[in-house]
Amino acid sequence: MVAPTSPTSAPSATGRMAAVQDMARLQRVLFEVEREFVRTATTLIYRVGEPELKYLLCQHVWESAGHARFLRERGRELSGFGTGESVRPELRSLFTEAVMPADGYVALAGFYRVLKPALLAAYRHYLSATHHLADWPSRKLVEEFIADEERHAREMEPCLGTVDATAWIAHLRHALAAHGGLFGDQPRSPLPTGFAWESSGRPYAHPATCNRGKYPTCSSVFSQDPDETPIVRSWLVDPKTDARVIRLMVYVWLMMELDAVDYLATIFIDTPDAPFDLHHDMARHLWDESRHSQFGYRQLPKLGVDLMTLEHSLDLYNILVQMPPHERYAMMTMEFEAGSFPTKALVMDRVRELNDFEADTLLAFDRNDEQNHVRYGHRWLPEIMTLCGDPRPVEEFVKATQARFTEVAKVHGNRTPHALPPERRLTGNKILQLAGVV
Ligand SMILES: [Fe+2]
Ligand SMILES: [Fe+2]
Repeated sequence: MVAPTSPTSAPSATGRMAAVQDMARLQRVLFEVEREFVRTATTLIYRVGEPELKYLLCQHVWESAGHARFLRERGRELSGFGTGESVRPELRSLFTEAVMPADGYVALAGFYRVLKPALLAAYRHYLSATHHLADWPSRKLVEEFIADEERHAREMEPCLGTVDATAWIAHLRHALAAHGGLFGDQPRSPLPTGFAWESSGRPYAHPATCNRGKYPTCSSVFSQDPDETPIVRSWLVDPKTDARVIRLMVYVWLMMELDAVDYLATIFIDTPDAPFDLHHDMARHLWDESRHSQFGYRQLPKLGVDLMTLEHSLDLYNILVQMPPHERYAMMTMEFEAGSFPTKALVMDRVRELNDFEADTLLAFDRNDEQNHVRYGHRWLPEIMTLCGDPRPVEEFVKATQARFTEVAKVHGNRTPHALPPERRLTGNKILQLAGVV
């Protein structure tokens, strides 16, 4: 027997799927929040000075990109998540506001004292609101993300509290409350009298140089002069150079990929309309570079290097930040990374003479990661060019960008004098001594 139906007694499509659509709507917001975190928290990386803090931020950004991708994948299985990837304007304006403090540590406090706790609370709300069996696939994801967010809070706690951010935290809390919380479902509290959105008064701008905290700085760690810089270009490829010297030089090289961390981090906020997958792959790229830098940061002290004698090179950030984002990305992937393979291959072969399994492992993973980065470059450079309104063929654009880099370097390069006198600075000749070859 077929049950009689009538238009009045049949539940509407919305009513029938309401339970799914309610949860899909929450997942959609969580996806948008995670992708906004990736877009904006990356601005903290070059504004804070401690390498360990930069590394931690890169890791959190990468994990957030992962959360966003899993949410998008699960969300698309649910009726009501939507097919696009756009972020609602209220959420976007909240995260755009969060980058505004001139002091990177104040901005850091806003992200980790206001926005990240709100995200954790939102994930907990999801878990309490959904059905444990019906929505099990989402539940498993959200349980994992809650554990990640709780760990992020623990990991960041020691880095907070270095500056008084009370006023900014209150400001951001007002902005969040005026939006009705991340989900926008709380009563919207009016903004206090005198509240002004910083982001509507001025655009965000990258600092002209990146922060390296207590560490000494210079323009470049590469030269031909063993009395000036730690990496002597000709020694790297000279078969007569002792392998122990090459190992120390390549660890310096790896540690200085911190410059790639800093300038790659500038591209996210400059490409607000990027497809999410572009930011996802750049977040991976960023995290890879932060691990490569850690290879040097962790290994050099074991080989006798006092990190306070190693100057950090600022030239690449200082030059690239003067160029538009698609030119930054082109120089990184098509010039620096694509051009590094032959020298790195020679270096790897020499280091293998030392039977240093850890060094071989680090260099092998570095090489594998770099191959992926060049692939990312081929995949995403045309997209970033389109986003930046550049219609040129890629090859022509890359050639022109290389020439432009040379011109910009004449103005903005080589402007950071050695912070340390030659006798206190790590140089090629000091590396000979540390390696025990003189
Ligand atoms: Fe790298
Ligand atoms: Fe790379």
